[in-house]
Amino acid sequence: MSKTKDSSKPWGGRFSEATDAFVERFTASVAFDQRMYQQDINGSIAHARMLEKVGILTASELEQIVSGLETIRMEIAAGEFTWSVGLEDVHMNIESSLTARIGDVGKKLHTGRSRNDQVATDIRLFVRDEVDQLALLLGKVLNALLDLAEREAETIMPGFTHLQTAQPVTFGHHIMAWREMLERDLGRLQDCRKRLNFSPLGAAALAGTTYPIDREYTAAQLGFDGPTRNSLDSVSDRDFAIELAAFGSLLMTHLSRFSEELVLWTSTQFGFVDLPDRFCTGSSIMPQKKNPDVPELIRGKTGRVHGHLIALLTLMKSQPLAYNKDNQEDKEPLFDLINTLKDCLFAYSEMLPALECKREVMYAAAKQGYATATDLADYLVKKGLPFRDAHEVVGKSVASAIASKKDLSELSLAELQAFSALIEADVFDVLTLEGSVNARDHIGGTAPAQVRAAIAAARDRQ
Ligand code: ARG
Repeated sequence: MSKTKDSSKPWGGRFSEATDAFVERFTASVAFDQRMYQQDINGSIAHARMLEKVGILTASELEQIVSGLETIRMEIAAGEFTWSVGLEDVHMNIESSLTARIGDVGKKLHTGRSRNDQVATDIRLFVRDEVDQLALLLGKVLNALLDLAEREAETIMPGFTHLQTAQPVTFGHHIMAWREMLERDLGRLQDCRKRLNFSPLGAAALAGTTYPIDREYTAAQLGFDGPTRNSLDSVSDRDFAIELAAFGSLLMTHLSRFSEELVLWTSTQFGFVDLPDRFCTGSSIMPQKKNPDVPELIRGKTGRVHGHLIALLTLMKSQPLAYNKDNQEDKEPLFDLINTLKDCLFAYSEMLPALECKREVMYAAAKQGYATATDLADYLVKKGLPFRDAHEVVGKSVASAIASKKDLSELSLAELQAFSALIEADVFDVLTLEGSVNARDHIGGTAPAQVRAAIAAARDRQ
């Protein structure tokens, strides 16, 4: 049964029946793409100014369009704008409302433009704004890590491999390791911005337009580094969104690993750090519980961010050139990704300065597990023993210390000398935790002096 034609659709001319109600709902994006209204209005104003500059609009027409769009902007911001699902997306809602307000002049705005280059512009502007906010938040986390590392440059903890005590490290060094990863993430974020910052406006539907447009002008108006070079590519690829998701996925992988450590460290068994109560929740049944929900959730939310990366990659992978409606599916993953990244970065920027380090607990833990065994081996090597033989001697010393439930430093000189005649009284200098960390005094090593140097270098790079 054919329904009567709906004349409200901007593309309704060639249609003889109204859109099926399901199809209208299924194809609409306005429920979520209205989030880009600022970018849509900014893009339209830049386009209108260009049309006036090249003589397609008069000065008065431009003036009406700009003031109409500004009124719409204020209405949307105030929550007074009525969005219509029948008008499909943010672009057609705003354009229809403009024409309803200023009459036929509003219909001239879409000259030399298509929703395809319009949405490609909006989404780039949107991602660019969000990249800048993400960079600020990530910058705060990087700073908080520096402050924490500085505070804990001398603090000694056990360093782990295979989650087994390996060698003593400084907590500041450990924190700076996370900071290295996040600084590389910031570099990836900045790279993503560089590549996305080109203006697709003027690509029109796919092939460009017959009007004498000035693409350099619209690009400059919108703060782009220039126009994109190929119209087909401009309207079709969403690689910049994928790059953001790839950045986000790595960032979340790093934050997730860090969160895993916070969860371990706040446990009674480790007890290395304490999170302030305001970052934790309790249990409704077990009165003693204080759960590290925030790091746990960050670890958990990593899954959805990785999922969005896969969603965006899969969305793109089979699309022929140029624009396809598939691309409308880029927005929800992208928006959720951005929300999640912002929340997780904010959480870290607040949590890190409030982290309470239990220095004595870390120190005591480092004393267990024979963390200085390698130092004893190195000591023997310096006295002339080949490393493999030294390894053997120390292995035997550790086995005997385990049997007598003592740390290596608690064995007497005579006991140690039973394993090698090369051992002398100065051995106790290297068996201490301080001696062990101070001895690793080279670029990238764990000595407090090197941690301070790394912090100073990082401050210089900011
Ligand atoms: N809502 C669409 C999107 O998000 C806008 C572009 C639609 N273009 C078209 N020719 N149907 O991609």
